[in-house]
Amino acid sequence: MTDTLRCAIVGTGAIARLHAEAVAAYPHAELVAATDLSRASADAFAERHGIPAVYDDLDSLLAAEHPDVVLICTPPGAHPAQTLAAFAAGAHVIVEKPPAPSLDELQQMTEAATAAGRELAVVFQQRTGTAAAHVKRLLDAGAFGRPLVAQCQTLWYRGADYFAVPWRGKWETEGGGTTLGHAIHQIDLLAFLLGDWTRVEGRLWRLDRETQTEDVSTATIVFDGGVVAQMVSSTLSPREVSTVRIDTEKATITVDHLYGHGHENWRITPAPHIDDAEAATWALPEAEERSGHEPLLREVFDALRSGSPLPPVADSPARSIEIVAAVYASADADGAVITPADLAAHPTHRTSFASAVIDLRPSR
Ligand SMILES: NC(=O)c1ccc[n+]([C@@H]2O[C@H](COP(=O)([O-])OP(=O)(O)OC[C@H]3O[C@@H](n4cnc5c(N)ncnc54)[C@H](O)[C@@H]3O)[C@@H](O)[C@H]2O)c1
Repeated sequence: MTDTLRCAIVGTGAIARLHAEAVAAYPHAELVAATDLSRASADAFAERHGIPAVYDDLDSLLAAEHPDVVLICTPPGAHPAQTLAAFAAGAHVIVEKPPAPSLDELQQMTEAATAAGRELAVVFQQRTGTAAAHVKRLLDAGAFGRPLVAQCQTLWYRGADYFAVPWRGKWETEGGGTTLGHAIHQIDLLAFLLGDWTRVEGRLWRLDRETQTEDVSTATIVFDGGVVAQMVSSTLSPREVSTVRIDTEKATITVDHLYGHGHENWRITPAPHIDDAEAATWALPEAEERSGHEPLLREVFDALRSGSPLPPVADSPARSIEIVAAVYASADADGAVITPADLAAHPTHRTSFASAVIDLRPSR
């Protein structure tokens, strides 16, 4: 059991704060250093979070500090090289979603983790929280009967200011549009609950925003056991909601939230033939923890300290990005069916998600 995990953070923009707070909340971890392309940003971040050392780049940070864990909070295009550098320096990696801008790069990252004997954890924090754990336990135990049909909605609103950030909205730097950047959270939660996928048919749309990537996507995802899910992702939706809904033989399970969920966001509705006594066995536990970075990093830190495998909230780093890649590959083939075997040997979409977007904007 390692005593205190010495953590370093690369990328001190918006999401980094949640990492710093999660480290501060964990009794056996500390932030020892930070770096960012912008020295001013790294200095201000270090000052705010009491981080003792700031470096101009990741290589000098790694050489000087030899951290146990590197928290990667940079844009997706930077994740692969930074992850490989961290493994080469002997650190574990916790990388923000999406872990990589391509499947081949993610594979290199997972292979490097194995070669270095280190862990690669990806931040998909929607899997965390006591409600998701409870529902997963009941689904896995068959308590709800067979899952049949599902909805996966990411209806968000992102205006022109959001896309004005230079790396956003471009295949080259963001890797994908709303499917990769936003929907991946709900897709990941759905796949956490339902397991492996068997086929995907998808479409990408550009309905309004000035982006190269899609501002809306739609897809049908089929999971193992024959669960059919409809996915929609949008950056154009003024009443924002993130929804996962699963209809099983015995119940409808829904979670309606925006960026995180507590018990109040979940609802389990029994089918008409289920009696009250059986439905009562599905009640959410009394103790509640909301989803978030804090429980995710805590569970990963616990595993790293004890040398156990990554917990379910951080395992299968490739599953949801493969579903996303399949949406892109399908859209690029005019909505054709993509299976895991198609994706494993795909001639283009293993290296880039750049795909055909159907542009329906009125000419301006
Ligand atoms: N888990 C979540 O809920 C969630 C939410 C928002 C963003 N994210 C993810 O977090 C990552 C960062 O997003 P953000 O919103 O914080 O972006 P941001 O633009 O606010 O911050 C990124 C920071 O990284 C720095 N940077 C860029 N390239 C770098 C490099 N090569 N080396 C060092 N620093 C570099 C930038 O200067 C900037 O300070 C993305 O992968 C994004 O998808 C996750």
